[in-house]
Amino acid sequence: APISPFIAALPKAELHMHLEGSLEPETIMRLAGRNNVRIPYASAEALRAAYSFTDLQSFLDLFYLGLTVLQTGEDFYEMTRAYLDRAAQDRVRHAEVFISPQGHLRRGIAMGTVIDNILRAFDDAKCAHGMTGGLIVGIQRQFDEEDALSMLDGLRPWRDRIIGLGTGGPEMGNRPAKFRRAYAKARHDLGWRTTIHAGEEGGADFVCEALDALQVDRIDHGVRCEADPDLMRRMAETGIPLTVCPCSNIMLRVFPDMQAHNIRRLHEAGLCITVNSDDPSYFGGYVNENYAAIQQALNFSDAELWQLARNSFTSAFMAGADRDRHL
Ligand code: HPA
Ligand code: ZN
Repeated sequence: APISPFIAALPKAELHMHLEGSLEPETIMRLAGRNNVRIPYASAEALRAAYSFTDLQSFLDLFYLGLTVLQTGEDFYEMTRAYLDRAAQDRVRHAEVFISPQGHLRRGIAMGTVIDNILRAFDDAKCAHGMTGGLIVGIQRQFDEEDALSMLDGLRPWRDRIIGLGTGGPEMGNRPAKFRRAYAKARHDLGWRTTIHAGEEGGADFVCEALDALQVDRIDHGVRCEADPDLMRRMAETGIPLTVCPCSNIMLRVFPDMQAHNIRRLHEAGLCITVNSDDPSYFGGYVNENYAAIQQALNFSDAELWQLARNSFTSAFMAGADRDRHL
């Protein structure tokens, strides 16, 4: 979809993207060669051709394959820097991004290799583009809570440079309350903000449970909240932000096509809605493509898009003064 000049120039924050989901097929093949990792595709084109998903799990299988090419600190730096440089072109002025440390620790990579190099890329992007970055660590919800708790212990040395706790992985079979202690630890012990993927695959009851059992500050995706009118009223009243990812939702068949997406109805019901790319290399576009897609399919006006971009700054976890200079 062509990007309008208004969208291209609109300052925005991105609050829902997974760094490993920004690895382009060309980068995956290049790092596979450099690091001697076997990727069972003959070329970047062949890998890209496999990006045709039927549901969340079919995407996750490829996502977990792709991230195995990340081996060295330089790989984590390059991945982060490439995303931030690309986001700066989309006039992203602040990015809060997810990393899944468990997916790397399990392969024998040290926590410092992952975290220090991502933070170094944030520092360099701030110098290069004036954009700010925040790191959210994601629990992989298919693993048990003990595994999440030990990851949090391993992150203690970086507690002041990490802004939040989130999740990734399959929702079905892994309800929000599974991570009650991990979320309490993040909030009370580490002093972080919290968010969770809920209501992408799971129903409105997953969103209710995330609010009641975990007391999260944001909901990632959350689009299935529409099935519960009481929940919709609660979300409008409390103003809890939803990080919606329109292109992701079409690629993973949460909605059959963009005309059928409920983002306009959620916005008009008074919910605090933001627009994000989720896994831009896998889902057909960076954040501006997501703004363009809803503009074209759902007739969002420039004034409405401006409101969504404003929501992205007011919903950010970044501290007061840094946030207010964007408003
Ligand atoms: N949902 C769940 N897990 C994920 C996603 C997502 O959209 N992206 C990367 N891991
Ligand atoms: Zn996501």
